[in-house]
Amino acid sequence: MLLKGSIIGQHIGTEKRFAADPTVRKKNVANGDINLGRVLFSFSFSDQDGAGRPLTKGTGRPLSDTANPLKDERAFNRISAPDANSCAGCHNLPYGIAGGGGDFVTNVFVLGQRFDFVTFDPNDKVPTRGSVDESGKPAAVQTIANMRSTTGLFGAGYLEMIARQVTADLQQIRNSIKLGQTRELKSKGISFGKLTLTKAGLWDTSKVEGLPRLSLLSTDSTNPPTLVIRPWHQAGHAVSIREFTNTAFNHHHGMQSTERFGLDTDPDGDGVKNELTRDDITAVSIWQATLQVPGRVISRHPVIEQAVLNGERVFERIGCATCHIPKLPLDKEGWIYSEPNPYNPPGNLRQGEAPDVKVDLNSAELPAPRLKPDANDIVWVDAYTDFKLHDIGGAEDVEPLDMNQSPWSPKFREGNRRFLTKRLWGAANEPPFFHHGLFTTMRRSILAHAGEALDSRRAFEALPDYDKDSLIEFLKTLQVLPPGTTERIVDQNFKPREWPPAMQPSGAGGRR
Ligand code: HEC
Ligand code: HEC
Repeated sequence: MLLKGSIIGQHIGTEKRFAADPTVRKKNVANGDINLGRVLFSFSFSDQDGAGRPLTKGTGRPLSDTANPLKDERAFNRISAPDANSCAGCHNLPYGIAGGGGDFVTNVFVLGQRFDFVTFDPNDKVPTRGSVDESGKPAAVQTIANMRSTTGLFGAGYLEMIARQVTADLQQIRNSIKLGQTRELKSKGISFGKLTLTKAGLWDTSKVEGLPRLSLLSTDSTNPPTLVIRPWHQAGHAVSIREFTNTAFNHHHGMQSTERFGLDTDPDGDGVKNELTRDDITAVSIWQATLQVPGRVISRHPVIEQAVLNGERVFERIGCATCHIPKLPLDKEGWIYSEPNPYNPPGNLRQGEAPDVKVDLNSAELPAPRLKPDANDIVWVDAYTDFKLHDIGGAEDVEPLDMNQSPWSPKFREGNRRFLTKRLWGAANEPPFFHHGLFTTMRRSILAHAGEALDSRRAFEALPDYDKDSLIEFLKTLQVLPPGTTERIVDQNFKPREWPPAMQPSGAGGRR
């Protein structure tokens, strides 16, 4: 993103022209100005900014066929990407909010980027060029990648801070385990099963639950499993917003960050170096982390109020809340978000490599609404998730590829059935639903729960109609609010309201 020569006649917007000077960017970010993050997230990158990656794949690896660079008519490809001009081109719902979720049209073919340029040409036999995969098999649109729906980053900073605290708790338990011992991995009331250090000094993770494979790898007693919570990617893959952001810039736009791809280098061969600096990535990451949290829209219509109250109780009674935990505590000032995440993998800025940049997620200067500490100095994050992976699919429900395996291992092509418990805050106005975005209603989503969630789905099916409809009515209240709304619980006109309503007989209320 370095501006060369004259400032006129270039395809760079006004805001970016301001931002084009790296020393200005550095100063702003160090002073806590994350506005640059908003600009970069919504910016349509041009060739002159370094968009496009003629010689490399979205994975960062060289093309399988360097004789056919990704430029001109091969510059964009909906399946193998680059597939968009800006982050906000996909992340913009509801209300056009940058950083939000996306319509079905913004679905990503995750892992399609390991191909140069997907053509499905039956005559092309070069692995991962355009048609056949690593194993030499011809790919189809249904098997070449995992179709994923665009998720919103609302409240992302709070979510990542919960994940960091859970990781710290699990690692502390792990570090206390002596040879021959087994201990339960538990944090914030969530059980992640049991971890054993065998007498022979090997870590046995076979009884650990809900953590992704990459967090369970261990070679010997001196290299224990990291147990890191990976809250990003619906299959639990990325540790931090920052890690995801470095990957996304390259994958979707061919914009390379220096911390991932090196300083003063041009690995993608587009003639532009230092396309995104460390400060750019810090700014975009913090800006996403500070997006407003979702709220609730509850109509004052008495029939609807009754149904919502009843639906909240049904949700707990039939076991939905065992995975979609209504609220989790952020204590020890966990609302002071910092970049970088201490658990970042290599290829991303790591703690100690630059001064930490901190921001108070509760600050009234950030977009409203926000969370506030209670009398015991705890911020309750009511995201309705447990940060665990679950297999809730039926027999047929397996996505083609396992992103947590190496693409060269056969396991990669055995597919994946495990997804993070979808956070339900803001779900109601961020359709479509499920990781693939194939469902247009939440009712359909509930009926698709099987596997580990089979009991609660059956309990749902067995409910009287009134209770079923009440549950849906409760889920419908979980919304992202129109920009500028400051209170989290509002009525149908987005005016603040009390919840549960006053004058309810005791014991009939919800949680707040
Ligand atoms: C072509 C559409 C598209 C574009 C462009 C796009 N994203 Fe995304 N984004 C997605 C989809 C789809 C997911 C869900 C991925 C998954 O679950 O595997 C996602 C997920 C994310 C997540 C993790 C959220 C979560 O719930 O797991 C972050 C962070 C993110 N995107 C940031 C960015 C940034 C930063 C950019 C720009 C550099 C960007 N995205 C560009 C579609 C897009
Ligand atoms: C065993 C854990 C578990 C239980 C129990 C469970 N869920 Fe889920 N739920 C999930 C997971 C995992 C997903 C994400 C599935 C996917 O994307 O493939 C999900 C997704 C959803 C979605 C889709 C949200 C979206 O934005 O895409 C809704 C709605 C939902 N659950 C509601 C419920 C309700 C209501 C119940 C009780 C009847 C329930 N869940 C019980 C784990 C669970």
